[in-house]
Formats: sequence, C-alpha cells, structure tokens
Amino acid sequence: MKIGVYPGTFDPMTNGHLHILKEASALFDKVYIAVLTNSGKSPVFSVEERLSMLREVIASEGLSNVETDSFGGLLVSYCREKGAEFIVRGLRTVSDFEYESGLDAVNRHMAPEIKTVYFMAALEQSFVSSSYIREMGHYGADISGLVPSAILNTISERLNQQ
Ligand code: COA
Repeated sequence: MKIGVYPGTFDPMTNGHLHILKEASALFDKVYIAVLTNSGKSPVFSVEERLSMLREVIASEGLSNVETDSFGGLLVSYCREKGAEFIVRGLRTVSDFEYESGLDAVNRHMAPEIKTVYFMAALEQSFVSSSYIREMGHYGADISGLVPSAILNTISERLNQQ
C-alpha cells in the first residue's frame, strides 16, 4: 500500500492546498494530511480548528482515502510511525523550489527511504498563500474562490473577528 503524508501549517487551508491534496489522493492508496503542531509560526487558527476545517473539506470533496492528523517533532519520524514512504509537497514558484530543496536534503539525510513527491500548484492558485488569506480576511476582503467553499464562511467569520 502506497502511503503519503501531506504536512503543513494549513493556517488556514487554501484552494492551493486542496489542489495538491486532490493530486495526492489520486496517486496514493492512503494520504494523511497532517497539521504541524509545533510550528515556529504563531498560527491564528488553533490545531483543532484547522483539523476540523480539513475534515469538512475532505468530506465535501469525497476524498475517502484521506485522513486528517496532527504531529509534532520531526516529519520523517511521523512518516515512519505511519508507515508512509512518501512526503507530499506543492511547488508554486522558484522560491518554493529553493526552500523545498533544502527540506528535501535534510529529510533524505535523516531518512533516505522516504521520498518527497512534488505537485505543481494550479497556475491560477500560484499566488495564494495562507498569510494573504489571513490578511485579506482580516480586512473583510472577498476570499471566495481562494479557499475551499466548504470552509469559506468559517474562515471569513473567524478572521473578521480578529
Ligand atoms: N498552495 C497554497 N499555499 C501554499 C502551497 C500551495 N500549493 N504550498 C505552500 N503554501 C504556503 C502555505 O500556505 C504557507 O503560507 P504562509 O507562510 O503564508 O502561511 C507557506 O506556503 C508554507 O507553508 P507550509 O506548506 O504549511 O509549510 P511550512 O513551512 O509551514 O511547514 C513542514 C513545512 C511542515 C513540511 C516543515 O516545517 C516540517 O517538516 N516541520 C517538522 C520538523 C521537521 O521535520 N523539519 C525538517 C528539517 S529539521
């Protein structure tokens, strides 16, 4: 069974992340979308809020082979715990490539048996990032089309309270 782990902060999930998740769901038998709990970032949405939003999106998209989870510590340790041979990441721009090359080198050094698979972001989503969504939402801008419709209201209402 081919198992992939799609890790990230997902603060909040965007349509860019959803595109990558769908690609992974089509390629692997099982995918864990895993929220990093000890990120150096200071997330706006709690881990439980992010997991709940991920679950809503997975249900509304009918991605039956995708499971939500959270993890702390090293990503490769989490992958080993789950029996996953593959890490899933998305690439939007050249700067993503530079960042991902470093991450890949470190992960391969620690766990050569785990491979990272990259999907290109959909062109129309390549400018989307969670921080843009947070800022737009905070100032009441329209974020429809940029985040999954199943969680649009949850995100808009929550960010508007900030
Ligand atoms: N579409 C939209 N946005 C995307 C995207 C895509 N396809 N791909 C990345 N992004 C955005 C995210 O929204 C986020 O935006 P933000 O900075 O504006 O919030 C940014 O790109 C990067 O976020 P993310 O993909 O969540 O990665 P990350 O840098 O937060 O976390 C981990 C990356 C989880 C893989 C990494 O930190 C990790 O493995 N941590 C565990 C510790 C570890 O093992 N480290 C390894 C070396 S020691």
